Amino acid sequence: MLRKARIAVFVSGGGTNLEALLKAQESGAIPHGEIVLVIASNETAYALTRAANHGVPGTAVPRKQMSQEAFEAAITEKLAEYKVDIIVLAGFLSILSENFVRQWPDRILNIHPSLIPSFCGKGMYGLKVHEAALAKGVKVTGATVHLVNEIPDGGKILLQKAVDILPGDTPEILQRRVMEQAEWVLLPQAAEMLCKQITEN
Ligand code: GAR
Repeated sequence: MLRKARIAVFVSGGGTNLEALLKAQESGAIPHGEIVLVIASNETAYALTRAANHGVPGTAVPRKQMSQEAFEAAITEKLAEYKVDIIVLAGFLSILSENFVRQWPDRILNIHPSLIPSFCGKGMYGLKVHEAALAKGVKVTGATVHLVNEIPDGGKILLQKAVDILPGDTPEILQRRVMEQAEWVLLPQAAEMLCKQITEN
């Protein structure tokens, strides 16, 4: 039988990207992977409800209540318990240290709501990314899925998709269009790509 890569999805908020991954899995679009665990950086993340609705184990590791070391130790323990092979950051807004990232070379995927290297880096997350794109006046934005590796490598870009900015866009309208046209399409594709690569090697 085909070995499936065991996926943990890290979330912090609404979890629409998690939902896209779960639906992709259910429709057979991630044949080389299986979402076995959802980790939220706070207890109130709606993404945990989405995980439960799909019968996937979810757990909160509340970042605000612990040090970076304790946070990452708790996450590492969960990843070992569930025998996780790859990590997908799907709207995960806590920082992971270089030390943590080093343990997972080419095994962490992240989705970012712009065309990297535009509108990324410190403080650029969620709606702020779309506010910055509109303030700059760019006519095209999009989403990027990339690997997360140690600096200086940083992590290779796996997939990108462009999305038009239209007259009258607000950050909220633009965010929704980028999610629908790019993020929810790219993230399951990239997850399958990485799972296929590691299970076939
Ligand atoms: C998504 O737009 C994701 O790209 C972004 O947060 C949102 C989470 O939405 N991530 C970042 O900005 C990371 N730098 P979701 O919880 O509904 O998936």
